[in-house]
Amino acid sequence: MSTTTLERPEHAADAAAPRSGCTRSRLRELALLPARPGLLSLAGGLPAPELIPRGAYAAALREVLAGDDGALQYGQPSEPLRERIVELMRERGVGCEPRQVLLTSGAQQALSLVAQLLLAPGGQVLMEEHVYTGLRQAVLPYRPAILTVPTDLDTGMDIDRARTLLAGGARPAFVYAIADTHNPCGVRLGREQRSGLAALARRFGVPIVEDDSYGLLHYDRGPLPALRALDPEWVIYVGTFSKIIAPALRLGWLVLPTRLVPAAGVLKEAADLECSALTQRAVARLLQEGFANHLERIRAGYRRRRNALLAALGDHFPGNIRWTHPPGGFFAWVELPRRIDGDRLCEEALAEARVAVIPGSAFAANAPAPTNHLRLSFASCAPDEIRTAVARLGRLLERRLAHG
Ligand SMILES: Cc1ncc(COP(=O)(O)O)c(C=O)c1O
Repeated sequence: MSTTTLERPEHAADAAAPRSGCTRSRLRELALLPARPGLLSLAGGLPAPELIPRGAYAAALREVLAGDDGALQYGQPSEPLRERIVELMRERGVGCEPRQVLLTSGAQQALSLVAQLLLAPGGQVLMEEHVYTGLRQAVLPYRPAILTVPTDLDTGMDIDRARTLLAGGARPAFVYAIADTHNPCGVRLGREQRSGLAALARRFGVPIVEDDSYGLLHYDRGPLPALRALDPEWVIYVGTFSKIIAPALRLGWLVLPTRLVPAAGVLKEAADLECSALTQRAVARLLQEGFANHLERIRAGYRRRRNALLAALGDHFPGNIRWTHPPGGFFAWVELPRRIDGDRLCEEALAEARVAVIPGSAFAANAPAPTNHLRLSFASCAPDEIRTAVARLGRLLERRLAHG
């Protein structure tokens, strides 16, 4: 375990500086690199363009605009959309009611609202050593003490370490967890670990914020129910349409314990009043028919990409390198020999191999962190591009290992 308090930035005394000290993350820079001839990107968490249901969404928009007077107005959250979300949640093993569903501008706003709701300035947050950078950004304004636990590359978050921390008196405002499938580590939380984590939440009265942004994207038999299915009182669920329809919708949701619904609603209103009525209605229409087929189609598309990545890693990466076998989501995590600096390797990959990847250090919850990891995304490239990119990276790695 390690603990830090997020540092006050050097420019904090400057009245013009943002209060949170947030900086634009290097990850977003790399993930959103503009297309360049010959550059292949395994960097971003962007859905594959061909798996975005453009035609169906355009038709839904047209129908809504033609027939629904409320589509361009202010309004209450769309009840049909919340009902459709309740149905989707059943696929995740979660029973809930429409009134527990709060619509948000993507999962990112859901995380920010939860931080605002639960975290007092200087409070604690418990997360894994490598964490989705957006969570860090969401909690940063509160300058929290970040408590971390390691991630086991087979079973996910180290629950024993979390138990030791809590039993030792730590009282985080919440535990942040991605059970299915982890960004950045590409690992799924084991069944035992899930019940262990839910039991910890109940025993110590600490909420779990379950980020299930990738939960509906599973590629193998036997997906596990979401954590929220284990405990509706202590687990706050975060979902999004970004990965299963399109990020540009900026539409996500929270499933909240009933006691938190009113306060969260007030915070959402204060943040941006409401999500776009047009988008809500068009998405509700899209979910109404054939969405199960759409999910199967995109799962098949990402499964092919995931398989291409794993096969290429086996073919092209040197033997002393380890990587995760993601059962879902968009990412695999590569553990390099300790003497290889992942940050440097990523710069070389961009300059010499024309492959964009994200160094593991970009996801460090606390600095300084080990730098011998890479995150590879299989989402945006076609399978043959993935193979080419991994072959290029493999050759670069062989050279680095040969020359120390
Ligand atoms: C784990 C995780 N949570 C949240 C988000 C934010 O997603 P959204 O586009 O729904 O705000 C992302 C986006 O990449 C993510 O990977």
